[in-house]
Formats: sequence, C-alpha cells, structure tokens
Amino acid sequence: MSCCERHGAAGPVAVDPALAGLRIRPERLLGRLEQLAAIGRTDEGACCRLALTDEDKAGRDLLVSWMRELGLEVRVDRIGNVFGLRRGTEDLSPVMSGSHIDTVRTGGRFDGNLGVIGALEAIETLNDAGVRTRRPLVVGVFTNEEGARFAPDMMGSLVYVGGLPLKEALDTVGIDGKRVGDELARIGYAGDAGLGLYRPHAFVELHIEQGPVLDIEGVRIGAVESLQGISWQEVTITGQSNHAGTTPMRLRHDAGYCAAAIGTKLREIARELGGDQVCTMGLVKLHPNLINVIAARATVTVDIRNTDEATLREAERRFAAFLEELAAAEGVKIETRRLARFEPVQFDDGIAHLVEHHAGRLGLSCRRMTSGAGHDAQMLARICPTAMIFVPSIGGISHNPAEDTRPEDLAAGTDVLLHTLLELAS
Ligand code: GLV
Ligand code: MN
Ligand code: MN
Repeated sequence: MSCCERHGAAGPVAVDPALAGLRIRPERLLGRLEQLAAIGRTDEGACCRLALTDEDKAGRDLLVSWMRELGLEVRVDRIGNVFGLRRGTEDLSPVMSGSHIDTVRTGGRFDGNLGVIGALEAIETLNDAGVRTRRPLVVGVFTNEEGARFAPDMMGSLVYVGGLPLKEALDTVGIDGKRVGDELARIGYAGDAGLGLYRPHAFVELHIEQGPVLDIEGVRIGAVESLQGISWQEVTITGQSNHAGTTPMRLRHDAGYCAAAIGTKLREIARELGGDQVCTMGLVKLHPNLINVIAARATVTVDIRNTDEATLREAERRFAAFLEELAAAEGVKIETRRLARFEPVQFDDGIAHLVEHHAGRLGLSCRRMTSGAGHDAQMLARICPTAMIFVPSIGGISHNPAEDTRPEDLAAGTDVLLHTLLELAS
C-alpha cells in the first residue's frame, strides 16, 4: 500500500499553518554545496571523488562532522553507507532522505551532493524552528552510487535493500584493480551497523535532473514518478595483433575495428528502436594501443537504457545477435560480462502527488516526469514507498564539469523536500 493513500482522492492533508511558511536558508545550503565541491576539485573545475578514494573519505568526513553538529546519531553500515538519525516524538519507522557524494571522474558540484546536503538543510531548518516530527528523520549517504570505479552503480543502496550479497559487493574489483572491501577498510568506512538498519516508512531523494526537460520547458520542479531500466555490460574482444602496414585487410582479426563497429551498432539500435531508447559506449581500451599495430584486444563498456522493459530487452537481443555476427565475420573471440541490470521502476504515486502539492503551494511550477539517470531511490523503492524531486540542470548538462543549476532552483527543490518530509513524518 502506498504510504500516502490517505492523501488519495481527498488530496493532501492540510499543512499546519504554523509550519507552512517554513523555508530553508539558501546561503547555508549553497555554502555547504561549495565546501563539499572543493574536495576533489580538478583543474577544469570538475569534482572528482570516485567512490572509496581519499577524496571520497574527505567528503564523508565533512558530512559526518555536519551530521554531528546537527545532533544526528551517526551510524555506518558494512557496505559503508552513512546514516544520520534525528529522533521523532514516537519510535516509529523513519522517513529517509539522501543520495550519494561519490562522483564520476568529470562530475559536477550537485549530482548526488544536493540530495544529501538538501536533506541536512531540511533538518537544520526544523532544528532552528524547534519542530519535532512524529517519525524520526534519517539522512542516508549511499556508497558508490556512480559505479564509475566499481560496478554495479547504486551499489550501497542495492546491498542495503538485499539486492546484492554483501560479500559479492566487497569482492568487486574496480577499474584500477582495487577491491571494494579493501578500499572501504582503508578509508575507515567499513562500518559495523547491520544492512537494512532502518526500514523506512518512506524515502524521498532530491536530485538535479541531469537532463534537459525542466530547463527547456522552464519548469522549476520535477515530481519524479518513474525511472528507466539500465543494462550495463563489458565486452572483451580478442583478435590478433599484427603489422599495420603488411597485413592485408582480408587477413586481419582486428579488435580495434570490432570496438568501433560496436559503437556504430549501438547508435543504429537506438535509432531503429526510437522513442526513449538510448545506447552508449563509454569506455574503450585497446591493447597494445599503438599506431602501427592492429589491436589484439579491446574492452568496451555498453550502457543501454529504456523506460520500457520489453524494448530494453529487444535492444539487448539485437546487440547480442550483432556480437555473434561480428565475431564470425572478423574471426575474433567476443566475451561479455554483465555489470548491472535494473528494470524500470515505478515510484509511489502518493509521494509524487505530495511533491506536486507542495511545489504548487510554494508557487513553483511542477511536472510529473521520469528519470533518465540511475539513483539510489530506485533501490529504496524495493522496500518502501519512494519518489524523487528534480530541479533543472542548465542546458541539461551533467557528468561534465559544466553541470550547473541556478541557486534559486537548488533552494526551491530543498524547500519542496522540507515540506514533503515534514508531511510524511507528521
Ligand atoms: C548514474 O549517475 C547513472 O545513471 O549512470
Ligand atoms: Mn546522482
Ligand atoms: Mn551521476
């Protein structure tokens, strides 16, 4: 049952007039976002805090210090998820909000960070106003959401909800040959709290959209009601290196050519299926990677997404059939390794409705939408009613140092989060 069914046909319950005017402090929110963004800042102005690196540790340490300043009870679980609990007036299941602070190598300032710092800001606003909620509030910071160093993405939240055995997650080896469990221990975040520590009454994640829809339409808030399915795999092609000048084209077993053909085929599959279908080859490694040597080996990663599970499967089927043809035609061996596979998720309609309601009450334009990116919320949705709040990304740019969101939109999204949490926890 939706936790918000009581809001159904009758609409949301009336907001306590004394609390309706409560607003977050934008300068405090922006200040914390900047402080966190300074950790791992690159020369290009990007944020580089790959999961479980020294930079991730420094970001976590800063967050934990903020949680303690706000009087939250901090606990770290065995996959390194960090939780800050604010007690309610009753010992009920908590309302949880949060996101991640790891980034891709070329990350921006807000991806994930806004969801965590926004939740802290909502809590500090309640502290300042002396408001106690009936249910506890928990800020969750999930390990390795990005999956850029260790696949799968959303690893911490996936383990939290029981979707991936802890041992398998800890044994995962990253792109630099390091093991999750060792890196977690090295940075001091292999905690002892049990997995699934809190079973939330509801989960709400504030996030930048990372796409163009809100920006193009000039809408301030997205009430996110669904999230598309994600298929990740690694493809390894083994051919034969040989001399680039002397080997006739008909005698080649060229892994580099196969990698390029895969990139082209992915674009073709997306074009043929149309609609929401997206396909990306994000990583390419060639060996020996020299100008005058035909590549003996290529490794590429493939990211295929769709809001519709049947179409996503069709894209995967077409891609697998292509790999077979390619291997036979070029005389190479092609192996695939599954890195992640998540079906599309439908979020809780009642919470999406609450988000719309509070956006409207705060005078903010709002639309229902789907998420193109993966988020911890898609994992939490397996165990509790969940939805997300999006704010616009300027130019729809993300996973890029130029990622940006207007300060007033960051604040507006956090105000909507505050009131959504307040109502869910009342
Ligand atoms: C996470 O950011 C993803 O959608 O890949
Ligand atoms: Mn994110
Ligand atoms: Mn991201």
